[in-house]
Amino acid sequence: MTQHKQALESTAREMVAAGKGILAADESNRTMTKRLESVDVESTEESRRRFRDLLFSTSDAEEHISGVIMYDETIRQSTADGTPFPEFLRSRGIIPGIKVDTGAKPLAGAEGETITEGLDGLRERLAEYHELGARFAKWRGVIEIDERHPSRYCVATNAHALARYGALCQEAGIVPIIEPEVLMDGEHTIGRAEKITDATLRAVFAELLDQRVLLEGIVLKPNMVMSGYECPQQAGVEEVAQRTLSLFRRLVPAAVPGIAFLSGGQSDELATAHLNAMNQIGDVPWELSFSYGRALQAAPLKVWSGQESNVAAAQAAYAHRARCNGEARFGRYSEKLEQALTPA
Ligand code: 13P
Repeated sequence: MTQHKQALESTAREMVAAGKGILAADESNRTMTKRLESVDVESTEESRRRFRDLLFSTSDAEEHISGVIMYDETIRQSTADGTPFPEFLRSRGIIPGIKVDTGAKPLAGAEGETITEGLDGLRERLAEYHELGARFAKWRGVIEIDERHPSRYCVATNAHALARYGALCQEAGIVPIIEPEVLMDGEHTIGRAEKITDATLRAVFAELLDQRVLLEGIVLKPNMVMSGYECPQQAGVEEVAQRTLSLFRRLVPAAVPGIAFLSGGQSDELATAHLNAMNQIGDVPWELSFSYGRALQAAPLKVWSGQESNVAAAQAAYAHRARCNGEARFGRYSEKLEQALTPA
């Protein structure tokens, strides 16, 4: 790891560079099929490639996008003119990334909970992904909240796996995105989300330190602290921003270069507004960035709907979201700006 120390630190800083964030385009084929079918597009290797190509080749995206997370199929695909995606992204100053977990599977002895898998053979897979151009990776642990969950067992095993993954990535010269996602689905209050996120982050950082992960060479990708989507009492934007930051100030070491939030099913505008509010509060030791999947892709996917004639409009919709989130990184986003920047 020490041999890669400098490279890891500089890649991590580049991933959370000012005004930029990460596009999560690493849906598994199963998830991507659901997304494509929601707009009546048949999911094939080629339709998945076409949609990713549309996103990756959006002009000036690099102004607000520092890196792209791909799926195993995607990192092996190419643009329409045959340039491999990683090479194409690199040429535009965007860092290629790769999802390396193999999904959340039922956790033995813990009904309804999951453990993220993918450690077996990971060292060899990371070597191959590095060869293919990946300089950062992603692994998502999933923590679900209901009256009985999560168990300490679920939090502990996921934290342990995240750190094992993190250490292997750094050994390979790849920056690990550490993603412990406390799901926003459910009826729970924001207070409960805060408590579970607290327990999760404590467990994750304890494991990262125990397993000798270089904190300067990671990017944390957490949930924001929010009311469950079905909770009748929804916390407002300001409260979400305040509570998220005060919790993180206590638990996330200053050595971590940046926090890139996931959107987790929030509406596009809300995900941007929350990020904006946090950057307005500021006064934190890390960059506050985004690594959105749905909140960057939902609009372009809908506009595109599989039609070649819609590609330019879909790219404009994606560029719009990337720009709004880029502005939110400086705390300069507003509803007015949202409207003013909306493509005709
Ligand atoms: P969402 O922003 O859609 O939550 O996706 C981000 C991600 O990469 C989840 O693992």
